[in-house]
Amino acid sequence: MKKLTPIIPLLIFTQLLAACGDNKKIDRGVVEEVNKANEVKKVSDAEITAFAIKWGDEISQEAQTALIGTLQNAIGDKGITGAIDFCQTQALPITREVAEKHGVSIRRVSLKNRNPVNSPNDMEKTLLEAYAFNIENDIEIRPNIQKINDGEVLLYTRAITIPGALCLNCHGEPGKEVNEPTLEKIKAQYPEDKALGYKAGELRGMWSISLPKKEVVKNM
Ligand code: HEC
Repeated sequence: MKKLTPIIPLLIFTQLLAACGDNKKIDRGVVEEVNKANEVKKVSDAEITAFAIKWGDEISQEAQTALIGTLQNAIGDKGITGAIDFCQTQALPITREVAEKHGVSIRRVSLKNRNPVNSPNDMEKTLLEAYAFNIENDIEIRPNIQKINDGEVLLYTRAITIPGALCLNCHGEPGKEVNEPTLEKIKAQYPEDKALGYKAGELRGMWSISLPKKEVVKNM
């Protein structure tokens, strides 16, 4: 009899093994289902829009902080007139760098643009006109989301207004806020410049950020 005793524990052990095997099957099934649900992510259009606004706010804020920080350093180093060179060579690469980091595309467009590259397309023009109308009529301006490319891209836009003196050095009234050497340099480097004569509080342009919907949902 004594020899038989190890059989019982062995049986229990095999049963346990079998049970573990079954459990594994169930677990794997559940895991697969959860993964699938995550892939499909049943999110409503409203949730996607809300997230796109939040993400666009973050990206535009990051790009704006980078631009203003470097602009202020350039003005500190070289003065207003010297900082024009900085704007010409650095503004686009700085926004491109932020864009690449997030896998999106970023533009700063304006109805009265300085760099011809920053002129708006039809959709951007309509949005800029809407922001300008709201500002002129004291209506609150908010970031906006438009579906483009058959809904595959969400276009985030946010108005850029002129907060005050810093910007007017290069975008204000010639001869008054924009001094002669600065004006000359702007004219030489941007023969088609339209970005002068602004006043504080006015619409200067807008951030225009194309967010691929896939990326928006993935980041939610
Ligand atoms: C030192 C001069 C200078 C100052 C100060 C300055 N800008 Fe500009 N700004 C420029 C130049 C030059 C460009 C063209 C940049 C380029 O070639 O990409 C530009 C372009 C822009 C654009 C892109 C649209 C366009 O017209 O091409 C916006 C928007 C803009 N500036 C807003 C501002 C705001 C807002 C401020 C204040 C926070 C400001 N700028 C301060 C010189 C300046």
